[in-house]
Amino acid sequence: MVRPDGIIIEVNDATLRAAQKSREEVIGQGVCKIIHGGRWPHLECPLEEFLKNCTPKTEETCLPGLSGEYSFSISPVKNTQGEVDTILLIARELTRDELRKVDYFRSAKLAALGELAAGVAHEVNNPITGIINFAQILLDTYDLDPAGVDMLQKIMKEGDRIATITRNLISFARADIGLREPVDPVEVVDSSLDLVNHQLLKDGIKVIKVFPSFNSFIIADFRKLQQVFLNFISNSRYALNNKFKGLDENKKIEIIFQGTNNDKNNFYKIIFKDYGTGLPQSILEHVFEPFFSTKPPGEGTGLGLSISYGIIKEHDGNLYLNSIVDKFTEIIIELPIGR
Ligand SMILES: Nc1ncnc2c1ncn2[C@@H]1O[C@H](COP(=O)(O)OP(=O)(O)O)[C@@H](O)[C@H]1O
Ligand SMILES: [Mg+2]
Repeated sequence: MVRPDGIIIEVNDATLRAAQKSREEVIGQGVCKIIHGGRWPHLECPLEEFLKNCTPKTEETCLPGLSGEYSFSISPVKNTQGEVDTILLIARELTRDELRKVDYFRSAKLAALGELAAGVAHEVNNPITGIINFAQILLDTYDLDPAGVDMLQKIMKEGDRIATITRNLISFARADIGLREPVDPVEVVDSSLDLVNHQLLKDGIKVIKVFPSFNSFIIADFRKLQQVFLNFISNSRYALNNKFKGLDENKKIEIIFQGTNNDKNNFYKIIFKDYGTGLPQSILEHVFEPFFSTKPPGEGTGLGLSISYGIIKEHDGNLYLNSIVDKFTEIIIELPIGR
């Protein structure tokens, strides 16, 4: 039972078990804080919006705090004056079929976005190649004064920037199938870390690797996976630097490898977990969309996770993101085992 402003006034034992908290820790707290760890001040959580509207309804939402996805229903309770003073909030765990449906809609939405993005990217690709080439020809053919040379070089540089964005959009749409070879995920992660180790060291970020009990390999494009892992590390680095200005024992990224020797399990799992700023629920479902970013202009393009999503899907794998505000963010990658 919650008040319309989201303060919890009563809970049942099942909620306490799911939240792993005692009654004293829960009563009087905001429902968002208990259910998914809180939110960023400038963003409203879907649950709060839901309570504010105060009309009876049901909504599916992902709640990593309570270990899984739940369907919520709210029933406003009116007092004798006819005003809503209490709301009965019921969370029911989604069935496997419902989960599949939620998953399906999420990937269908991203697929549609991917198609749109790839369409635009292809349209932009040819003219931009033309612009860069003509600028190059001008530069090579004519004896220009330094100001002219400078301008042409700027045209080429800006053109390259657009070309990179379109290339990235195409890989979000999974339009380019790359190499396929047996690779050891540990090796890919290590080679990615090699590229950023000095930055991590400078920021005081520790990397803790937990190795698999079985040495399995996956069939993948080494370079593309490296790009994916670099994206995750760069996001974690940003989140950790934002939360901890100086040194801290929690300024760390854990990378957990879970191979398998079980015939029934066809996936190799890799988990990237950082203890940085985390993400509120309202954002969680948008992070894989192209150009979605919460970073200030110049610091993020919003393409990292969407590209990564495209690349992992292209490998017939899965990508999930879990997070609790101010506690952790965890990216789970599943890739088919090479057999
Ligand atoms: N490890 C993380 N911790 C906190 N937030 C994250 C993390 N990874 C991704 N995000 C969120 O997801 C958004 C999208 O990420 P991404 O696609 O890589 O774009 P960008 O990093 O350019 O913003 C980020 O703006 C951020 O809000
Ligand atoms: Mg990023």
